[in-house]
Amino acid sequence: MRIVRQTQKSSPKSKLVILISFVGLLGAALIVDLLWASSSSTSSALRYVTGNWPIGPSSTIIIIPSVDVPASLDKDNAKDRGKDNATARFLSATFADLPAPELHWQKMSSAPVPRLDGAAIQIKNLLYVFAGYGTINLVHSHVDVYNFTDNTWGARFDMPKEMAHSHLGMVTDGRYIYVVTGQYGPQCRGPTARTFVLDTETKQWSDLLPLPVPRYAPATQLWRGRLHVMGGSGINRYTPEVEHWSLAVKDGKPLEKEWRSEIPIPRGGPHRACVVADDKLMVIGGQEGDFMAKPGSPIFKCSRRNEVVYDNVFMLDDEMKWKNLPPMPKPDSHIEFAWALVNNSIVIAGGTTEKHPITKKMVLVGEIFRFDLNTLKWSVIGKLPYRVKTTLVGFWDGWLYFTSGQRDKGPDDPSPRKVIGEMWRTKLRF
Ligand SMILES: *[C@@H]1O[C@H](CO)[C@@H](O)[C@H](O)[C@H]1NC(C)=O
Ligand SMILES: *[C@@H]1O[C@H](CO)[C@@H](O)[C@H](O)[C@H]1NC(C)=O
Ligand SMILES: *[C@@H]1O[C@H](CO)[C@@H](O)[C@H](O)[C@H]1NC(C)=O
Repeated sequence: MRIVRQTQKSSPKSKLVILISFVGLLGAALIVDLLWASSSSTSSALRYVTGNWPIGPSSTIIIIPSVDVPASLDKDNAKDRGKDNATARFLSATFADLPAPELHWQKMSSAPVPRLDGAAIQIKNLLYVFAGYGTINLVHSHVDVYNFTDNTWGARFDMPKEMAHSHLGMVTDGRYIYVVTGQYGPQCRGPTARTFVLDTETKQWSDLLPLPVPRYAPATQLWRGRLHVMGGSGINRYTPEVEHWSLAVKDGKPLEKEWRSEIPIPRGGPHRACVVADDKLMVIGGQEGDFMAKPGSPIFKCSRRNEVVYDNVFMLDDEMKWKNLPPMPKPDSHIEFAWALVNNSIVIAGGTTEKHPITKKMVLVGEIFRFDLNTLKWSVIGKLPYRVKTTLVGFWDGWLYFTSGQRDKGPDDPSPRKVIGEMWRTKLRF
């Protein structure tokens, strides 16, 4: 059985795409590598890359829970099949790469340090990049600032010592950056409820009311004069929490003495994009569960647990009741700072999707998704130079930028490897 969903008529190219994806999925890495090598150019002068993907550009979207194997291919790859037979049968669009238009990427100067689970806020032409893991045993406690006007990394300044180093909730009103809760320390250490405000004009930090209880990576936004914090993981780093609080704030100061309880979010968990647009609050993607500290480990060593990644989009409006909006093209998590608002569309870059059902390995996302707020329709508008999670995104003067995160092992292996500080940009045109 083959399910092929097409946006254009089947063409020789789309058949080739099916073959290539099948071959690639069977682990015929050599063939894929050759294809990759022949279709990519890394001109050092221009530092552009193209076609860095095993599956070529196409507007055809293919979902392959199972594939009819052409006889010739079957024979050619007989020795590769064996235990991998099942692989192709179970593959679905959830973790297979979705074909997308080709984008040309330009490599800019890398951030001073690599970052996983960092945070970022754009204010006009500046991208403030915070915290994050450099390695699993080393966390950053400073801010680097990228200037989109002259494309350089400039200012660097320290965060307060008591501020969390990853899994932060963060949002800005255009001058003040509100920094809420998060994980304190490396590996899988516990969270803090401490909350801070940065005045980006004076670079001064101040304390804000701590959250009632600590959270990992809660969805955080400013909406109608209130700082909203919802979801995230509980203090064990794993349990998806649905609680939702808000606090009236103005110019970096609380206007109230305590957080107000708000309507809980229908599905809990960390690592979601949280966006306010058209005076609506939206919470996109995310997951239930996360790595936890190994019981008794003195260094809080991270150990993997089951995770469920989801595609839900929830929205709050005047009625203050959560509504469902159309789901993402695939489940996506680790996207809290991987989005930008462009011409009344939300653009989301990369992330993680559901684990591979056979290898159980984590699967990173390389697509760029667009949610058009006029039509409430999702589309895949391009691909990143590689799959990457917890990437930090900005948009300036027609260019979509991303930096940092953890990238894949290569075009034919979507599981995570290197923590990066690279900065890339591409011209965006819907
Ligand atoms: C793989 O497929 C071949 C040919 O269809 C079949 O003979 C073989 O039993 C399968 N192997 C497994 C492990 O399913
Ligand atoms: C950003 O770069 C522009 C152009 O070089 C410069 O005029 C501006 O002062 C820079 N901004 C900051 C905050 O450094
Ligand atoms: C957004 O709209 C402006 C004005 O219509 C247009 O010039 C620009 O190309 C659009 N941006 C994208 C990403 O399509």
